Amino acid sequence: MTKLKGIIILGSSRSNGNTFKICQRLQEQTSYDLIDLKAKNISIYDYEHKNKDDDFLPLIKKIVAEYEVIIFATPIYWYSMSATLKIFFDRISDCLSIEKETGRKLKGKHMAMLSCGSDDEIFDGFTMPFIQSANYLGMNYIGDVHTWLEEDETISAEVAERLNAFAQKLP
Ligand SMILES: Cc1cc2nc3c(=O)[nH]c(=O)nc-3n(C[C@H](O)[C@H](O)[C@H](O)COP(=O)(O)O)c2cc1C
Repeated sequence: MTKLKGIIILGSSRSNGNTFKICQRLQEQTSYDLIDLKAKNISIYDYEHKNKDDDFLPLIKKIVAEYEVIIFATPIYWYSMSATLKIFFDRISDCLSIEKETGRKLKGKHMAMLSCGSDDEIFDGFTMPFIQSANYLGMNYIGDVHTWLEEDETISAEVAERLNAFAQKLP
């Protein structure tokens, strides 16, 4: 069956770090494109929208125009998604005010989440902001996968298997 076109949005403080390496493996299985938020100039949410000319609006417009599946890939930093990714989520609020047309286009798209921590441990509640944001935006939350790297470089058989199962589930 034809797979829908997807994008991985990487929110790590290292462009070539652990989360990126996991994303690369997922790309081999999905041929999804990848956007590195660290390479973008996206500033924190501004109630006055004085930052409307930074990289956020062109990026979100491109995403809604070109992709049906959005995978948020984040390292675990202090039990939470990275600040880089959280800023991206905060800026989605622009799509509820000055960019409503783009916000409406998120509706019906698929969201998934990939986390990369230091080991197999991920605490309850980590997925909640993704699930609830998807609900709020009318997106379909497909699921998530938790990963880690051995010695900051090796993808274990367990993680490889999880990524494989996750990729199979993607629409
Ligand atoms: C600021 C910071 C906070 C972290 N907090 C956690 C944490 O709460 N739980 C965890 O499992 N790992 C934590 N780690 C480890 C990273 O999640 C782990 O090394 C991850 O693979 C790093 O991915 P990256 O190379 O994409 O940044 C933390 C790392 C940093 C730099």
